[in-house]
Amino acid sequence: MSAKDVIIALDFPTKEATLAFLDQFPAGEKPFVKIGMELFYAEGPAIVREIKARGHKIFLDLKLHDIPNTVKSAMRVLSRLDVDMVNLHAAGAGAMMKGALEGLTREDGTRPILIAVTQLTSTDAEALKNEILIDVPMAETVMSYARNAADCGLDGVVCSPLEAALVKEKCGENFMTVTPGIRFADSAVGDQKRIMTPEKAGKSGCDYIVVGRPITQAADPVAAYRRAMADFLG
Ligand code: C5P
Repeated sequence: MSAKDVIIALDFPTKEATLAFLDQFPAGEKPFVKIGMELFYAEGPAIVREIKARGHKIFLDLKLHDIPNTVKSAMRVLSRLDVDMVNLHAAGAGAMMKGALEGLTREDGTRPILIAVTQLTSTDAEALKNEILIDVPMAETVMSYARNAADCGLDGVVCSPLEAALVKEKCGENFMTVTPGIRFADSAVGDQKRIMTPEKAGKSGCDYIVVGRPITQAADPVAAYRRAMADFLG
């Protein structure tokens, strides 16, 4: 199921801005794209259908986290949108993850790739200990969540490119790693803290890299996308 690819994060506030960005690509070039909460909540399922109809693969990044029955029902709706990848919070625990898989599976047995968010990269060690009340080190929590997701039958996790090799070691070579925090050696770091170049990510066990601003804010986004693909695929 795994195929190495670059996923462009479509972090745009409106349909117009999103389609104007996609229109820059030639007709035959259809990057895998990520639609997150901002665009989905602004434009609704119609934006997913429209981008799908243009021929793109879609990672719908809505990070579901609720009781198992609610997540199962919501995933059933998302599977009908014909997206290629969706995600949830591993913190929702096993029953929720298994419910999600059931809901996602279509009548013909196919389903989108399902990956789990472990700990958000915005959560630091202090918040983990003092607010979430998890008293084991961050890396241990991340690996334990990943292991649990794998045991529940999920396909992979979102993680830092720096964690990808360890996730593979703990959860198996076929367990997918989807990694944001990607920067070219010469691009602005912005608010990302733990970063890696596409080339190094390609050699570090990352199956999919999620790249936003280094492509969307580039002077020539198509050239930046092609550079990311060439560097990542090696
Ligand atoms: O612009 P940039 O390349 O930093 O975009 C990265 C994308 O990946 C954004 O859509 C961001 O929300 C997402 N993401 C992330 N870190 C996570 C999970 C998702 O940067 N831990």
